[in-house]
Formats: sequence, structure tokens, C-alpha cells
Amino acid sequence: MNWNKAIRQLHRWLSIIFTMTVIANFAAMAVGTPPAFVVYSPLPPLFLLLFSGLYMFALPYFTGRREQASAAT
Ligand code: HEM
Repeated sequence: MNWNKAIRQLHRWLSIIFTMTVIANFAAMAVGTPPAFVVYSPLPPLFLLLFSGLYMFALPYFTGRREQASAAT
């Protein structure tokens, strides 16, 4: 299993979930005061995005030259 690829795929799908929670916030605010669970719903995906994003950021600095070629795909 290619972990780097899996983390990138996770980051991609988390970004979609995060975007939907932000849209849900705007939609809920248009009709009144949204409940707390809607207001805070973007935080868990954002938290996971932060770590998967930082992992991807650090990747090129920690992989050797030979591995870098396969990590890029
Ligand atoms: C919270 C802190 C975040 C960090 C540190 C971060 C960092 C990164 C990094 C380093 C990459 C890889 C760039 C590359 O190809 O070299 C990336 C890709 C990406 N990020 Fe983030 N990101 C964060 C949050 C977000 C958010 C909030 C979104 C969108 C709602 C997002 C959407 C994406 C997408 C769609 C990609 C491309 C994924 C792919 O190539 O499949 N990220 N991010």
C-alpha cells in the first residue's frame, strides 16, 4: 500500500467534506441562527486537513532522492 498516495487522497476528500460544512454554515445562517453542531462542524475536517496537509508538505524534505520519484505519483 502506498501511504503517501492514501494521505493525498484523504486530504482531497476531506477538503470536499470541509467545503460542504462551510456551505452548510452559510445556508443555515441565511435562515436564522444555526445550532452549535452546524457552527462547529467544519472544525474536525479542518483539523484532519491540517495534519494530512503538513504531512504532504514535509514529505519531499524527508524522502530520499530515489523514493521521491515514486512519492510524486
Ligand atoms: C489546514 C491546513 C492545510 C495544509 C497545511 C495543507 C497543505 C497541503 C499540501 C502541502 C498539499 C500538497 C501540495 C502539493 O501537491 O505539493 C495540499 C494539497 C491539497 N489541498 Fe491542502 N492543506 C490544508 C488545508 C486545505 C483545505 C482547507 C483545503 C480545501 C478545502 C485543501 C485542499 C487541498 C487539495 C484539493 C489539494 C490537492 C490534493 C491532491 O493533489 O489530490 N487543503 N494541501
